[in-house]
Amino acid sequence: MKFPEGFIWGTASAAHQVEGNDTNCDWWEWEKSKEENKRQFPLDPSELACDFYHRYEEDFDLCKQLNNNGVRISLAWNRIEPEQGKFDKGEIEHYKKVFHEAKKKGLKVFLTLQHFTLPLWFVGMGGWSNIKSPHIFADFAERSAREFEGFVDTYFTINEPQVYALMAYTNGTWPPNKKNYFLSLLVQINLLRAHCLAYKRMKIITKNPIGIVKNIVWYEPHPTEGTLLDKVAAKIIFFLNCDFFLWPLRKCTDTLGLNFYFTTRLKKLKVKNLDDVISDLGWWVNPASLEKILLHLKKYKIPIYVTENGIADARDTLRKKFLTEMLLSCYKSISKGVNLKGYFYWSLTDNYEWHQGFWPRFGLVGIDYEHNLKRKPRNSFYYYAKICSSNEIVLNNE
Ligand code: GCO
Repeated sequence: MKFPEGFIWGTASAAHQVEGNDTNCDWWEWEKSKEENKRQFPLDPSELACDFYHRYEEDFDLCKQLNNNGVRISLAWNRIEPEQGKFDKGEIEHYKKVFHEAKKKGLKVFLTLQHFTLPLWFVGMGGWSNIKSPHIFADFAERSAREFEGFVDTYFTINEPQVYALMAYTNGTWPPNKKNYFLSLLVQINLLRAHCLAYKRMKIITKNPIGIVKNIVWYEPHPTEGTLLDKVAAKIIFFLNCDFFLWPLRKCTDTLGLNFYFTTRLKKLKVKNLDDVISDLGWWVNPASLEKILLHLKKYKIPIYVTENGIADARDTLRKKFLTEMLLSCYKSISKGVNLKGYFYWSLTDNYEWHQGFWPRFGLVGIDYEHNLKRKPRNSFYYYAKICSSNEIVLNNE
């Protein structure tokens, strides 16, 4: 099963999860305050993470060994703009070096401007609940496009706006740890506005595509025990998760990044998943839903990338099958007319999994946190490398 010529094969990561010493942001502060507040989360502080900040050359070498032609990484806003309106030349140069290195290794750069973590000064102004936050973000986005034009191939403004609103403002697990439906909705609206404003301002500077990254969960009634009510509920929740957010954006986005991890089956309005295959985090792996979501997104008539899809699997026993079946879903959707342009596995290396700390192992490459963060490719690394070089998947070829 051949993928189209020029299909992008890559991996994805985010600044705070891999760079290390990402100080001056809300997460760093929250991580540091754990002891005094005696809370459960986060399980670990991010500290040096994977030290990607200094080891990006080594990691891009690994991408090259994977025969990748693209890589998705993010900026740390707090490094680039440590105070409002003051841009740090040294950090901007650093990112230019990173992008240059990626290009040298034959990797197209897919850049996320905002992946969850926020500068402390921005948080001090109320973060995403501030009515002016879209404008503040758009200033940063415009400056980033100006600085990095020529280095970046595709921009994504914001990563998973609804996940952020949910984790930080509905269930309160992530900073600023609020449980307030009104604020959560306001934050989502501001994130939508922020994307559109940033899009318009960046468009003046760059001809490259600008998109947004959305986590989409597939909801369906339980196939044998689901009721009519489950069917209706699944439709409504899927709508809120997908089109409610994407439809207003359709005039200000050139491309769409899809992060896919979850399927939820409903039985009598309760979750009843099959759970035949589950990751170390207990997430049900159901690759068939990826095709269903991609087919649903076809109506937007813009190029789509799977910007994240991965599994926490420390023993690496599920990852090959996971990759094959997810990619089969991608392949099928392409053959049914979906304009899918690329796939980014989450993640190249193990990394800092937010409030869960370091234990979930998503990497094609393991990190030995005890021994100088040594990178150790897992078997699935070589499997993915073969797929990427041949641009095709072959069933049962393990
Ligand atoms: C995301 C998160 C990633 C997670 C990954 C695995 O975009 O969902 O951005 O940071 O680490 O999804 O949970």
